[in-house]
Amino acid sequence: MQKIEVTGGVALEGDVRISGAKNAVLPILCATLLADEPVTIGNVPHLHDVVTTTRVLAGLGAGVTHDSDGSHIVVDPRSVDSHVAPYELVRTMRASVLVLGPLVARYGAAEVSLPGGCAIGSRPVDLHIRALEALGAEIVVEHGFIKANAGRLRGGNVAFDMVSVGATENVLMAATLAHGTTVIDNAAREPEIVDLAVCLRAMGADIEGEGTSRIVVRGVERLHGAHHDVVADRIEAGTFLVAAAMTGGRVTATNARADTMDAVLAKLAEAGADIGIDGDRICVDMRGRRPRAVDIITAPHPAFPTDMQAQFMAMDCIAEGVATIDETIFENRFMHVNELMRLGAEIHIEGHRATVTGVERLSGAPVMATDLRASASLILAGLVADGETLIDRIYHLDRGYEHIERKLSGLGARIRRID
Ligand code: UD1
Repeated sequence: MQKIEVTGGVALEGDVRISGAKNAVLPILCATLLADEPVTIGNVPHLHDVVTTTRVLAGLGAGVTHDSDGSHIVVDPRSVDSHVAPYELVRTMRASVLVLGPLVARYGAAEVSLPGGCAIGSRPVDLHIRALEALGAEIVVEHGFIKANAGRLRGGNVAFDMVSVGATENVLMAATLAHGTTVIDNAAREPEIVDLAVCLRAMGADIEGEGTSRIVVRGVERLHGAHHDVVADRIEAGTFLVAAAMTGGRVTATNARADTMDAVLAKLAEAGADIGIDGDRICVDMRGRRPRAVDIITAPHPAFPTDMQAQFMAMDCIAEGVATIDETIFENRFMHVNELMRLGAEIHIEGHRATVTGVERLSGAPVMATDLRASASLILAGLVADGETLIDRIYHLDRGYEHIERKLSGLGARIRRID
């Protein structure tokens, strides 16, 4: 199994190009199922989760073609002849559940394996199911599958009692082809929802209010082909900018979208970084300084993203002062804590709160990645640890970071992938 070896001690310097967002491209690929013509997606990141999604689409019968460098994918949904997303694929990637809404809206039937648990918590799909039921789908859960049937869906009112990114996406996609108007209240406001709505609109959908907590969708008869470029990955950008701040370096994220990153940039500024924004370039400069500890409370967008929690915890481990980190989205998203402590971090957990006391230096050790963003936090910690940090189970990283070791090497980090 591959591992990543990081030798700490280098202040990162330079430019890094940000890829298309994982959490935007996955629902957008699923949305292509709604069309009756080919849809072209650009700025597609090279990620294992993208490969898994294209396998799900191909398994449904869709034609999937890539251009030579893989940054464009064309999905031709006209050959779809199945409505089953099997366990083998869904269990490796929870986001496969996002084919549920498109399939039932366009083909009147869907069978999607229940995703099951994952490392960061139980993560149920009850909100997805109830929202689609509100549009007239009949859904049963049996033999480990969510089985949905419907004639044409009809518009309805969906009021979520908690904010869910995936459930908002599923019902948003389904509502585009429903008969009548759907109002989604307490909708997720993440930039990836906005990007999905922009893509759906390019396909002919009638949507208003994306990016706010009320989205209104007027159903249309059909969606057509379109071209859409995926929004920049705010989590990838945030990860590199935290790396700059932690190592006392200066890094510019290019092709980035600062307007999607307010909470993260505000916390980097609070940590003492100088931040410069120029169009699609975001520069973080922390040369000659040690970060100050920053408190974090994760919550739905526009508050601080749970997907940046582990990376900021890594920074707090070597910051000046004591920080509290409250994880309010996922019940079990502190698995990186024990691994960070193996590197010498001082962290105390009580329920959903971690208290981190910054230490002067971490010391390299073998550690194990437990989930995607946890893996990133271990690499960040390795960048400031004495000696070598060897990170095992890096397949988590390849699900969500494009060529992370190449991009970090480009900034001067001593990092390599080993077999
Ligand atoms: C998405 C992101 C993930 C991010 C998360 C929160 C993708 C592919 N993944 O995941 O990276 O960490 O948003 O920003 O975009 N919940 C229920 N019932 C449901 C659905 C969710 O109780 O039916 C709960 C979850 O267990 C969790 C909370 O709602 O506690 C938020 O989850 P949700 O926003 O749905 O996350 P995902 O869409 O799975």
